[in-house]
Amino acid sequence: MGTARPGRVRTLFADRTNWDREEALLSERVAAVRADGGAVLDLTASNPTRCGFRFEAERLLAPLAAPGALEYEPLPFGREQARAAVAGYYAERGAAVEVEDLCLCTSTSEAYSFLFRLLCNAGDEVLIATPSYPLFPYLAALHDVRLVEYPLLYEHGWQLEPGALDARITERTRAIVLVHPNNPTGHFVGAQERAAIEALCVRHGLALLVDEVFLDYAVDAQPRQSFASALPGDAERPLVFVLSGMSKVAALPQMKLSWIAVCGPEGLRHEARERLEIIADTFLSVSAPVQHALPAWLAECGAMQAQIRARVAENIRLLDGLIKDTHVSRLEAEGGWYAVLRYPAVVLNEALALGLLEQRSVLVYPGEAFGFATAGWVVVSLLPECAEFARGAGFLVGAVEAVVAEARGA
Ligand SMILES: Cc1ncc(COP(=O)(O)O)c(C=O)c1O
Repeated sequence: MGTARPGRVRTLFADRTNWDREEALLSERVAAVRADGGAVLDLTASNPTRCGFRFEAERLLAPLAAPGALEYEPLPFGREQARAAVAGYYAERGAAVEVEDLCLCTSTSEAYSFLFRLLCNAGDEVLIATPSYPLFPYLAALHDVRLVEYPLLYEHGWQLEPGALDARITERTRAIVLVHPNNPTGHFVGAQERAAIEALCVRHGLALLVDEVFLDYAVDAQPRQSFASALPGDAERPLVFVLSGMSKVAALPQMKLSWIAVCGPEGLRHEARERLEIIADTFLSVSAPVQHALPAWLAECGAMQAQIRARVAENIRLLDGLIKDTHVSRLEAEGGWYAVLRYPAVVLNEALALGLLEQRSVLVYPGEAFGFATAGWVVVSLLPECAEFARGAGFLVGAVEAVVAEARGA
């Protein structure tokens, strides 16, 4: 077979797939260490199926073998019993979600895909927080959506400034995305912030997309309010889509099950449901066994969440012990599975991460991975097993102290 000529290839494929595919230096080096049979102390590990948690295999796998799972039911939003279980999940959290307002999907990413298709024409804009989850630029590009970033500020905890969102709204803005709590900052949208943003959406005729995959992972273990519940005294609500799913709620990303809860005024909900139904009907993407198993998985999710919360709490405790009286500080996080760490900006984030990998085989996220634009930021996952986490974090702190000492000596 001949090699494709570059000009020909460029016209053969859509512009949106002209990604820069050169592997980042850090990923290249990680692959090289692993190819040499070396072990990496991975402080970016956030796949819950590979972090040493106890999964009850029999209880989780048995419901997939429900006899009804052999039947193909082409239902756009999914089986009613599965959606009723999701409505029950919200009822336990004090939010009333109608079964008819729930659409099952295979992943939160697919949920974003459906919603960008539902709401945006090519070139329309969606507001998104920075720092934030690194998949958004890809999700947006795949749907010809332009992301417009609004800042999260750190001032005695993370804050949202509704005025900063207002200033970014244009004729092309269709929606605001909130991640509640945000990944990686762990910021839960406060009641006042929420009221101001919902009012902004009503005033400008925008939809609100709220990603609540980490809702149940408050660091203080106190339940937080879902956007699926109305605010007390709410006069007018915008159209709100709440996204969540099994990958975080039950730590089962491999099962590929998430959902969209359509919330807000009935007129808008009705219109959104009817349009969304056609999108979902085009794909019918959630498998029957998974839909049959969902009620059992949701019934079990509390125990899994308790294991994860305990791991996160212990790793925070270990980390705080290790950084005490050093040049590393941890930014306050209210929820989620990540820690954002600040250090004196004497070395670029990627250089610090590369040095750590080369000298200690420890992998951390340089801040840029989540949109931190300046030196002095790294992010670590709080899911790794505690002994491994403490070892890796100890090396990280040692590396920061060494670069600070070197900069001072220079
Ligand atoms: C904020 C946020 N939303 C969604 C997801 C992915 O969810 P899913 O596996 O359902 O696509 C992640 C994964 O880390 C996430 O951090």
